[in-house]
Amino acid sequence: MKLCLKNAASFVDAAVLKQLESKTVAANMLLENGQGAGNDYIGWVHLPSSITDEFLAEVQASADELRRRCEVVIVAGIGGSYLGARAVNEALCSAFDAFVAKDRKNPYVVYAGNNIGEDYLAELMEFLADKQFGIINISKSGTTTETALAFRLLKTMLEKQVGKEEAKHRIVAVTDRAKGALRSLATKEGYKTFVIPDNVGGRFSVLTPVGLLPIAVAGGDIKALVKGAQDMEKATDIKVPYAENPACQYAAMRNALYQGGKKIEILVNFNPKLHYFSEWWKQLYGESEGKDHKAIFPAAVDFTTDLHSMGQWIQDGERTIFETVISIEKANKTVLVPMDEENLDGLNFLAGKRVDEVNKMAELGTQLAHVDGGVPNIHISFEKIDEYNIGQFIYFFERGCGISGYVLDVNPFNQPGVEAYKKNMFALLNKPGYEAESKAIQERLNKKD
Ligand code: PA5
Repeated sequence: MKLCLKNAASFVDAAVLKQLESKTVAANMLLENGQGAGNDYIGWVHLPSSITDEFLAEVQASADELRRRCEVVIVAGIGGSYLGARAVNEALCSAFDAFVAKDRKNPYVVYAGNNIGEDYLAELMEFLADKQFGIINISKSGTTTETALAFRLLKTMLEKQVGKEEAKHRIVAVTDRAKGALRSLATKEGYKTFVIPDNVGGRFSVLTPVGLLPIAVAGGDIKALVKGAQDMEKATDIKVPYAENPACQYAAMRNALYQGGKKIEILVNFNPKLHYFSEWWKQLYGESEGKDHKAIFPAAVDFTTDLHSMGQWIQDGERTIFETVISIEKANKTVLVPMDEENLDGLNFLAGKRVDEVNKMAELGTQLAHVDGGVPNIHISFEKIDEYNIGQFIYFFERGCGISGYVLDVNPFNQPGVEAYKKNMFALLNKPGYEAESKAIQERLNKKD
């Protein structure tokens, strides 16, 4: 991985950046010594180096069991309990995996429990009607409505289709060691379970079975993924000085830009396979930093697609943005532009070139245009999309996030703000225990303007 800050440095005050350099080093130390806010949720810091081969073998065995029994595996989870797995799977699998019907190597992996769309659930159940399917149900709290609702529907359907005994072998629960409804249900039904460690919050949990199991089910090499994360854990350790520590440098630069009025960070990719990485990253930074009425707003675009929709705004809109570009040095596959005698489309100047070369020139051209237009550019490049590089990518952004949150002086490991909608929803649905809230909300809704 390479981090290049030269196209961002000219936009920040050198003295501010200098100050932030030492702040990031101190913040990294807080993650290490556990003296910062939310320190009961920093189990992810040394998670990669604590993962053993035996543990990975256990996860793989469970994945293999699902792969043997099922054509389709549904990953039920929301937020930190699904985005990481989806990001990795969509990056690694063929974009057309879902359409390959014959001689499939891997089960279809589909996602549920991340919305309350009735049509979505109905269509999923229609799709599953003639399929051999299994479920990985992921919820740390074990009580998240979206996930529990989807699981109830899918479990009922599965038991009807194959009977309770076979269903037991096709359901795996990933949840808290001891508490929550999912833990009780799994114990009662006798499901295989994996534990989400107490000290790892949802959005930092992709390297636990939350991510590892669905990734292994989809055919990903979880050993290589963890190896990438382990190497990045070393590269961002407190022993690594600021000048060589990419997580500290990234955290310092984004905070310097923020202090200079750049309130929105746009994560940019030039590869559609990384779309869900941006979704994962948005949650990681948004939920970790968006507190106390401050923090950079994490946005994302897929280029060149979105150059045709958001490009105008980025080039010429309000100058409160900066870009962090994820650049992939080498495409995994080769497609050459063919020569065409008639050349009616005028593309013969590209004949013989790789499509990736065209993409790279679009990337460079965009960078130059946006920097000229006043958009600072942080550039992060990875050699290619594979498990090892993705493992690096994940840990780099996690470490950068923990450091950046401490620099911003928030607790990066809680999420009190996400409870507000839930309280109202439960009150509106008359959930037992919410009687007072129900009454207050009805009065508010009945009030005439
Ligand atoms: O990062 C988080 O903590 C959240 O996104 C949670 O992962 C998400 O709300 C799902 O929670 P749970 O795993 O308890 O179902």
